[in-house]
Amino acid sequence: MKFVNRSAVVTGGAGRVGRPLCEKLCDHGVAVAIADLDLAKAEELAAALHARGGQARAYPLDVTSTESVNAMARSVLADFGRVDILINNAGVWKRQLLSEMSEAFWTMHIDLNLTGTFRVTKAFLPGMQAAGYGRIINLSSIAGEVGLPYFGAYAAAKAGVIIFTKTLAMELAKQGITVNCVSPGMIGDAPNPTKTTWVERYGLGHEVADLLVFLASDDTSFITGVDYTIDGGRILGPRYADV
Ligand SMILES: NC(=O)c1ccc[n+]([C@@H]2O[C@H](COP(=O)([O-])OP(=O)(O)OC[C@H]3O[C@@H](n4cnc5c(N)ncnc54)[C@H](O)[C@@H]3O)[C@@H](O)[C@H]2O)c1
Repeated sequence: MKFVNRSAVVTGGAGRVGRPLCEKLCDHGVAVAIADLDLAKAEELAAALHARGGQARAYPLDVTSTESVNAMARSVLADFGRVDILINNAGVWKRQLLSEMSEAFWTMHIDLNLTGTFRVTKAFLPGMQAAGYGRIINLSSIAGEVGLPYFGAYAAAKAGVIIFTKTLAMELAKQGITVNCVSPGMIGDAPNPTKTTWVERYGLGHEVADLLVFLASDDTSFITGVDYTIDGGRILGPRYADV
């Protein structure tokens, strides 16, 4: 995989998917901005990446605040000069039936997961357009593809992320900027067994990170507007017999 002197921003970079993603990008020589609500965790990761020869810096970020997003973007652009790769990975999901959900609960999910993606993208888009190069990758979810009981607000936000991705991909296609989407399902801290995926285990953060790194590379200039499911077969046909 090729990365020619690239720099990246990973929102939610200190989490389960973000951490292996930042590690792998650093291993490819990419300078990585780890932007997270949990600054202590982001700083700890940046120090660990530095220790193994990577170029990484931590930045405080709350994707629900335009002020925080713009302050992060200003700092990253001042430190790195430009940003070639943006991975909108920060996300939050909480459990509640739609019939019992408050408007505040609904709005929080839409604001953080969907509008947060819009805010951060807007902050970095002018630089990518000026450079005529960019890789934007948004994290959706299988919940956004097929729905998920108890997670209706999150699912609606993530469905919005998919259509945001496809629309932006069309709008930017002639400007050297690709926009794609990755939709995981059932990602855990261990490959614990489960009958709810056809591979009969949970996925791991580093497995999602491998797909994200590929999409972030210089090699994917003809891939845009695609939503990649990565779920061990979770949303394939129903299980009616063991095979
Ligand atoms: N883990 C799964 O099973 C799963 C499944 C489908 C989709 N996803 C999506 O993948 C992405 C990464 O998930 P994960 O498993 O690494 O989650 P995680 O909870 O481990 O990490 C999320 C990170 O986002 C940060 N964050 C939370 N709110 C923030 C805010 N307002 N501003 C900035 N950062 C904030 C957290 O501090 C955390 O470091 C998310 O978008 C999630 O919706 C995860």
